[in-house]
Amino acid sequence: MKRILKWFVRIVLVLLVVAFLWVFVAYWRSTNDCGKTAAPTNPMKAIVRCDYGLANLKLEDVEKPVPENDQILVKIHAVSVNPYDWHFVEGTPYVMRAIADVGLRKPKDIRLGVDFSGTVEAVGKDVTQFKPGDEVFGGRDGAFAEYVCRRAVGAVAPKPAGLTFEQAASINIAGITALQGVRDKGKVQPGQKVLINGASGGVGTFAVQLAKNFGAEVTGVCSTRNLEMVQSLGADHVIDYTKEDFTKGDQHYDVILDNVGNHSLSEYRRLLTPNGIYVLIGGGSANEQGLLGGLGKALNAAVYSRFVKQKMGMMMADPSAKDLTLLADMMQSGKIKPVIDRTYKSLSEVPEAIRYVEEGHARGKVVITVE
Ligand SMILES: NC(=O)c1ccc[n+]([C@@H]2O[C@H](COP(=O)([O-])OP(=O)(O)OC[C@H]3O[C@@H](n4cnc5c(N)ncnc54)[C@H](OP(=O)(O)O)[C@@H]3O)[C@@H](O)[C@H]2O)c1
Repeated sequence: MKRILKWFVRIVLVLLVVAFLWVFVAYWRSTNDCGKTAAPTNPMKAIVRCDYGLANLKLEDVEKPVPENDQILVKIHAVSVNPYDWHFVEGTPYVMRAIADVGLRKPKDIRLGVDFSGTVEAVGKDVTQFKPGDEVFGGRDGAFAEYVCRRAVGAVAPKPAGLTFEQAASINIAGITALQGVRDKGKVQPGQKVLINGASGGVGTFAVQLAKNFGAEVTGVCSTRNLEMVQSLGADHVIDYTKEDFTKGDQHYDVILDNVGNHSLSEYRRLLTPNGIYVLIGGGSANEQGLLGGLGKALNAAVYSRFVKQKMGMMMADPSAKDLTLLADMMQSGKIKPVIDRTYKSLSEVPEAIRYVEEGHARGKVVITVE
C-alpha cells in the first residue's frame, strides 16, 4: 500500500511539473502577427493591438480585406462597444486566455470589435443574399475598422431604411442577448413578473423593452440617475440599487435576468417563484475579473440548479440573422427603441469609448461613427 501511495505521489508530481512546463512554454511562445506583416498595398484604417491592455490600442493602416466567394465586403459606417470588447482588450478573466485560446501572453488576434453597420461594397461570386449598395448590420470580429469581410450567412441582416447606421450598429450583441434571454432562456410569458438586474446598460435597455413586448410585468434595477430612463422604456416598477437591496424584498418573480451578478445564487433563488427561471447573463466590472470572472458563478449555477426546483444557469448569446432581422423590424415599427448613451465621432476614439464602457456605467449603448 505504501509503495502504491509513493508511486501515486510521484506520478502526480511529474504531471504537475509537465503541466507547469507546458504552461510556461505556451506562455512564452504566445505571440501574434505584430510587426511581421509587410506594409499594406491597399491600406485601410483599423484598431490594432500587439499586447493586452487599453494603452496598447492603436489606429493603424492594415491591408483592406478582399471577400472570398461566400463573403461580403462591408464599408463600415458605425460600430458599437460591448463589455465583450474590453474582455478581449484586457484578456480577462485570465482563464479565457487558455480555454478560449485567445493568447496566453499576447493576444492572438490583433484586431478588435464586433458590432457594425455599413454598406456592402463587393460580394463574392457565391453570394446571392446581398449586392453592392445594400445597407447591412451585424457582427464580425475585427469590426473596429473601415471595412470588414464576413460570410453572407450568419450574423448579418439588411438594415431597415428607417434606422440610422448608429442605431443599427447598437443592436447585435446587446439586442440578441436580451432577445434570447427573454424569449429562449427566460421563456417569458404574458402576465409573468420579470426582474431585470442591470436594466440601464446595453443588454438591460433592450431586455426591459422586449420583456414588455412579451407581455410581462417588468421590474428594472438601476441607479437613481437611470430610474426615469428605465421607466420610460416601459418598466412597471423600478428599484434603485443605491437605496434598496432588491433581494431583501418580499416580491417573487417568474424570471430574473441578471446582467450584474452581484448577489448569491441563494439570494436570487429566494426571489423566484417555485418554477421560476434565473438567467445569468454576465457581470463584474473590468477590474473585478481576476482568474475566473463571471465563470465562477456560471459553474456554481450549473451545479446549484441540479439541487433546486427552479432553473438557474448562464446563457451565451447565439449570433443569428433571423434575430437581427426581428430586432430591426421591431425598431422600425417603434416596438423597441435603441438607447444610445453617447456617440464618438471617429475610429481614433475607440480606446476612449472602450475605457468608458469599462467603467461599467454606460446608459444603453456606446456607438462610434466611422467616416
Ligand atoms: N452571456 C452573454 O452571451 C452576454 C452577452 C452580452 C453581454 N454579456 C455580459 O452582460 C453584462 C451586461 O452587458 P451590458 O452590455 O448591458 O453592459 P453595460 O452596458 O456595460 O452595463 C452597464 C450598466 O450596468 C449597470 N450597473 C452597474 N452596477 C450595477 C448594479 N450593482 N446594479 C444594477 N445595475 C448596475 C450600470 O448602471 P449604473 O451606471 O446606474 O451603475 C450601467 O447602466 C456584461 O457583464 C457583459 O459582459 C453577456
